[in-house]
Amino acid sequence: MMTTPTIDSMLNRKSIRNYTAEMPTDEVIQAVVCAGQQAPFAAQLCSLLLTRKKGVPFGAPLLFTICVDLHRMELIMHKRGWQMVTNDLSILFFGIQDASLVAENMVIAAESFGMGSCFLGAAPYIADKIARKYKLPPRVFPLVQLVMGYPAENPPPRPRYPLAFSLFEDKYPELSDAEVEQAMKQMDDGYLAQNYYRKGRIMIRLEGDRQETFTYDDYSWTEHISRKWGQWYESPEELLKQLSKRGFNVVRQEGSESNVG
Ligand SMILES: Cc1cc2nc3c(=O)[nH]c(=O)nc-3n(C[C@H](O)[C@H](O)[C@H](O)COP(=O)(O)O)c2cc1C
Repeated sequence: MMTTPTIDSMLNRKSIRNYTAEMPTDEVIQAVVCAGQQAPFAAQLCSLLLTRKKGVPFGAPLLFTICVDLHRMELIMHKRGWQMVTNDLSILFFGIQDASLVAENMVIAAESFGMGSCFLGAAPYIADKIARKYKLPPRVFPLVQLVMGYPAENPPPRPRYPLAFSLFEDKYPELSDAEVEQAMKQMDDGYLAQNYYRKGRIMIRLEGDRQETFTYDDYSWTEHISRKWGQWYESPEELLKQLSKRGFNVVRQEGSESNVG
């Protein structure tokens, strides 16, 4: 495969869950954030909250909270004499797209300084708590958090699906059992070879009547991810409640064509 220094850095990236105490300088932080900001955008619907060294997970010196931010857009529109009529679901999608690109640019920029990072996905479910902590105005929604700093570990890059299971040219293929099983094997063998779940003592508990048949000898990614989506987040209520508390109304109103923003 062809590579470049940028691609090498991307292929070697892994989530870091153990950090040194070294605090990145203001200049480094600023450069990472500017690289994030320079990501392509639909409408710059992303703002960032930063906390340095206060109980940040994994002992990281930096915690960014990456937000979908309609507040600033609406301030600008107001000055232009406009009101947002775009429905909240559409604008939320644009915001998620903008914020995701900012976030990943920051990850890559951090790598170029020899730093590591790890996303934390719980933010949308604790949006009210984050909003209180940072005094967020309405219409700002914490999408994801990103811890960052200098790594105190160097795990191997984690496995991915085979390219043929991810890139479909011209037409989405009918995936055969063999192809699905090969992709599963690549993921599971890859994580087992790294002892990933055993080392982290990670195994999602089975709910209901299902009996545990796995040990750390065979518990790997495909079982782990299946247990997540097979048991968690069945109801959208919590997320809808968090969105609504932040001033996002994505629920279709009975009998209306559009959402009330
Ligand atoms: C949106 C998102 C949320 C994530 N949430 C968490 C999290 O809460 N805790 C954690 O340890 N890792 C989290 N991760 C990191 C993933 O576990 C990690 O990216 C994935 O296992 C692939 O490993 P790699 O990043 O080392 O390649 C998250 C990643 C993403 C993109």
